[in-house]
Amino acid sequence: MKILLLGSGAREHALARALARDPQTTELVVAPGNPGTAAIATNLNIDPCVPDEVVALATQMRADLVVVGPEAPLVAGVADAVRDAGIPCFGPSAEAARLEGSKAFAKEIMTAAGVPTAEAAVCTTEAELCAALDRFGAPYVVKEDGLAAGKGVVVTSERAAARDHGLACLSREGGRVLVEHYLDGPEISLFCVCDGATVRPLAPAQDFKRLADGDAGPNTGGMGAYCPLPWAPDDLAAEVMAQVVDPTLAEMRRRGTPFTGLLYAGLALTSRGMRVVEFNARFGDPETQAVLALLATPLAPVLLAAARGELAELPPLAWRDGAAVVVVEAASGYPGTPVLGGSVELPADVSDAWTIQAGTRLADGQLVASGGRVLGVVGLGEDLEAARERAYAHLSQVRFPDGFHRTDIGVPH
Ligand code: GLY
Repeated sequence: MKILLLGSGAREHALARALARDPQTTELVVAPGNPGTAAIATNLNIDPCVPDEVVALATQMRADLVVVGPEAPLVAGVADAVRDAGIPCFGPSAEAARLEGSKAFAKEIMTAAGVPTAEAAVCTTEAELCAALDRFGAPYVVKEDGLAAGKGVVVTSERAAARDHGLACLSREGGRVLVEHYLDGPEISLFCVCDGATVRPLAPAQDFKRLADGDAGPNTGGMGAYCPLPWAPDDLAAEVMAQVVDPTLAEMRRRGTPFTGLLYAGLALTSRGMRVVEFNARFGDPETQAVLALLATPLAPVLLAAARGELAELPPLAWRDGAAVVVVEAASGYPGTPVLGGSVELPADVSDAWTIQAGTRLADGQLVASGGRVLGVVGLGEDLEAARERAYAHLSQVRFPDGFHRTDIGVPH
């Protein structure tokens, strides 16, 4: 199978690693990719957000499948263009990707589908914003409506900080902001492979969103993750499917915009039951690094079956025993202004521990940091504790003087 994978972050390196290990993959091109994907696939430098460029490359390489990693190409209509060219594509249409592209749209779908989520106010003016902050109170949850590359959500007990973030969102073109009720309880991520009609949930994972140990500091794109969740009830995925995923996908079908691709349900398990925190229309990062580490079923046929609407014909997914932990190494200054350009040296991958590259590039043959989250270290073990120890032992061999990481990833909270 010839596969074109779009994107250049850790999520794409993790996807590329799983696809490259699949014997059914005969050719894997990553566009544009990163130094990690270059070691296991062919990187080609196109703009993944330009539909014509993607279609031209997919046609030229006679791709059997295009996999869209990040959200921006989806919202730009890349999956529609690929499908229109007659090439199977794993990724939702621009219309279906609005589940991630507009938080107000996601709320509208959830309300129509009866899916539990936090009460929210959509604000377009400063007066509406201030009234909503007063109405919901602290802790304040303020979310930019549109895509914001992981920087759109602020959760804070300080009203001034909440107001400042809301005003910054409103000042951008078409600015809309959501103010929501704060949701207590642990958060989980459930990734669902969807073909428009049939859904296959992957193993639930937990993401550590805050910057520092003990869940201190600001929100980030995610500082680590683990999978599966030893503390969760066995029927957690089934419950999420029944309460959240099935009704949401039914509502999307009813509107004539079925969802094909990866629906990421971010949920809070509150004292009053589960609530959707957010939907994303793509694999999450860093959770994907841990989830795919445990998936025993070859990935390529799963994504192709979803792209072709044939998921119902696929045998059940198989999983490795044990646990996976991923710890993110970030450049100092992240999530504000990260220090870029610092040299990075990685230990060799081994069967139960490896590195996944995120914000890296090669400069004169030397790997250097080029983004806030620089890499992830994945460890496998017979249980969560063993996987955690393995990940941190491997991370201790990474040489990145400008970096930092949390030390409590894999400690459930
Ligand atoms: N882990 C959060 C995200 O992928 O959006």
